[in-house]
Amino acid sequence: MNPYLYPEFITSLLTEKWRHMELLAVENCQLHPDHNVLEVGFGPGIGLQAAYNIIKNGKGKVTGLDLSPYILEEATKLMSEGIIKKQVELHLGNVMEMPFQSNSFDRLFHCNTFYFWPDLNKSAQELYRVLKPGCFMVTVLNQRYLKYMKTIGVLRYGDADVQKYMNALLQSKFENIKISHGKYGIKPYQIITAYTGNKQE
Ligand SMILES: C[S@@+](CC[C@H](N)C(=O)[O-])C[C@H]1O[C@@H](n2cnc3c(N)ncnc32)[C@H](O)[C@@H]1O
Repeated sequence: MNPYLYPEFITSLLTEKWRHMELLAVENCQLHPDHNVLEVGFGPGIGLQAAYNIIKNGKGKVTGLDLSPYILEEATKLMSEGIIKKQVELHLGNVMEMPFQSNSFDRLFHCNTFYFWPDLNKSAQELYRVLKPGCFMVTVLNQRYLKYMKTIGVLRYGDADVQKYMNALLQSKFENIKISHGKYGIKPYQIITAYTGNKQE
């Protein structure tokens, strides 16, 4: 069973410990108020809120997609203002088969989630498909923490191999894929940016 479908685990661990990573993801998206932005695997909704605060006075929209019904229910409460104003739309779904038209989003971000996706190549192809040409995706993670989680058995079903993830992006036609390393206090993090280029076949 996927441990991230356990509500208590999600809310207690992610909200406090990984908040800064969600905020970094949104910051690195360089959003402006007219952007259409997608977050995959939004968890407690910290990134959704931060993105909504940027677009709420513009024509933009925040869309979220997550596999967990519990997560969707909680985020629906949290984001109710934006949902009523039709500037936030939340979906239950799998990154490997997203219910969005091709070339829908100006920005896409995800945080602490790719290691749970069953097929990285298929997921990367979907991410590429829904992003508009000339746009980019931001991925945030903490490699040190992932290694630790693997050693204590929490991540035994997930694949935390960053190189594999970056290779999957490359194979799915993402361009200019870069990883940068930073620290938030004593907590290290990595940010991966990947561009769609002109997307011509
Ligand atoms: C570790 S949590 C991270 C949550 C949030 N991004 C954060 O950093 O606080 C992983 C999230 O990804 C979601 N998730 C896992 N596999 C998924 C998939 N295949 N498609 C969409 N969402 C998925 C989980 O339900 C969960 O909300």
